[in-house]
Amino acid sequence: MIEIRNLSKSFKTQQGPLEILKDINFQIPKGKIIAITGHSGSGKSTLLSLLAGLDKPDSGQILIEGRDLFAIPPHKQNDFRAQNISLIFQNYYLIPHLTALENVALPLQILKKASPFEEAQRLLKEVGLEDRMSHYPGELSGGECQRVSIARGLATKPLVLLADEPTGSLDNETGNRVMKLYFDLVRKHNLTSVIVTHNEELAALCDSELKLSQGQIHK
Ligand SMILES: Nc1ncnc2c1ncn2[C@@H]1O[C@H](COP(=O)(O)OP(=O)(O)O)[C@@H](O)[C@H]1O
Ligand SMILES: [Mg+2]
Repeated sequence: MIEIRNLSKSFKTQQGPLEILKDINFQIPKGKIIAITGHSGSGKSTLLSLLAGLDKPDSGQILIEGRDLFAIPPHKQNDFRAQNISLIFQNYYLIPHLTALENVALPLQILKKASPFEEAQRLLKEVGLEDRMSHYPGELSGGECQRVSIARGLATKPLVLLADEPTGSLDNETGNRVMKLYFDLVRKHNLTSVIVTHNEELAALCDSELKLSQGQIHK
């Protein structure tokens, strides 16, 4: 379960403060997938980076399974994020000089988990890339890169999987196939997920859709 309470965020600019999120409240039950839609510049990525703990709100709280994300002591924040929250991006952000296998194993190595490569192999099989493990990102298609990034996102067994325009760089058919896999995996692992998307078809497949405009959420 993710709870967003009275969340506000503004950016300082030379023209004064830019209010992006104005006292936002919503909840996502455990195991649900919600879409966040809205015009370009409406604050979708800002909201996602708050949910990921990558930026701090001006006020308000985000509770992940009851833990107040911004009340975690600073020295424990990185660990909490790394263990519990994974992010998937439009442009994958794979490390170009690491193979698919090494990219997926990396978060496991950072967290000093046992058998990172065996686990990475298992995950790459789960996303259907058993025959692409030793390929570098430059040798993979867009859909394959996104599947590697999903495998990497699952590696730490997070509670929450966040995705910012995950199909934004993929053609329609590839995007649909990758997201079918994404949905299957979120449900199989009982994760809670937020997907920022422009893709109405994808938003309609989610358990609910929240529209962001003028700094507020509309159902
Ligand atoms: N670090 C920042 N400093 C100032 N303005 C920002 C910053 N980050 C985002 N913005 C502004 O906040 C608004 C929302 O941005 P963003 O969340 O990226 O929108 P979206 O993802 O919905 O397209 C935009 O107008 C953007 O210019
Ligand atoms: Mg964005």
